[in-house]
Amino acid sequence: MPKITFIQQNGEKVVVEDAVGTLMEIATDNDVEGITGDCGGVCSCSTCHVYVTHDWQDRIGSADEIEMDTLDFNEHKKPNSRLCCQIELTDELDGLIVEVAPEE
Ligand code: FES
Repeated sequence: MPKITFIQQNGEKVVVEDAVGTLMEIATDNDVEGITGDCGGVCSCSTCHVYVTHDWQDRIGSADEIEMDTLDFNEHKKPNSRLCCQIELTDELDGLIVEVAPEE
């Protein structure tokens, strides 16, 4: 089962082993600061905004059009932004590291 590391805005890391589900679900289940998942994962709120670290960008892929439309309303959007409710953690993503984006 995969492991994921969230780097919070305060610099502290939350490491979750044997994680299952979307990154948003994993983050909210483990009290990751700055990820609240207000819309429940339907890609309409951007309260699950993360930055994917450089090494992982190719494996994660980029946002689809709907996700990009939601991100366009976020003032902290960067080229490596993703809404983590749209990323399902798989074995291929074992060791993934994401940085939690600032809250709006
Ligand atoms: S939880 Fe709302 S966009 Fe991800």
